[in-house]
Amino acid sequence: MKRFIQSSPDGVLKIGWAVLKNPALLKPLWKTFRELAHSVSENKNEPDIPETELLSISVSPEARQGGIGSRLLAALEQALKNRGINQYKVIAGQKLEGANKFYRKNGFVLAKQIFIHGNEVSNVYVKAI
Ligand SMILES: CC(C)(COP(=O)(O)OP(=O)(O)OC[C@H]1O[C@@H](n2cnc3c(N)ncnc32)[C@H](O)[C@@H]1OP(=O)(O)O)[C@@H](O)C(=O)NCCC(=O)NCCS
Repeated sequence: MKRFIQSSPDGVLKIGWAVLKNPALLKPLWKTFRELAHSVSENKNEPDIPETELLSISVSPEARQGGIGSRLLAALEQALKNRGINQYKVIAGQKLEGANKFYRKNGFVLAKQIFIHGNEVSNVYVKAI
């Protein structure tokens, strides 16, 4: 959140403007902020969970399971290594069977489980590179 605010003042202004136009957005925004703060405070005592995170990866439905996702990971890992980063994490909803299989197949290890979306379990995977 702090990084977002520092790196994207435009984004903060856009969100502020959207909230001014539609104050009902405050509730979901507050919920997201609280849940993020909660997951960050949970991580404080867990130095093994790296800060570097793959936030999102997606391949067009018609091109899936053809190796593109794995190649994207390989390219990301090369870029991370070039920056001296040797491990990173990704969070996947437990229900996303394909994604969970994809991460395990690509060398991620389940580090912990958290609740981000209400009662739904999310898996936190870590990969050493
Ligand atoms: C997850 C995703 C990025 C993988 O990309 P991809 O190009 O399909 O992955 P690859 O072809 O490199 O890897 C395929 C492997 O991933 C796993 N996998 C991917 N999709 C799967 C599915 N729908 N069902 C089962 N296994 C799946 C399998 O292990 C598969 O290997 P296998 O067929 O030999 O068992 C892609 O499926 C996707 O965009 N999904 C929707 C978005 C998403 O869920 N993103 C992750 C959010 S946390």
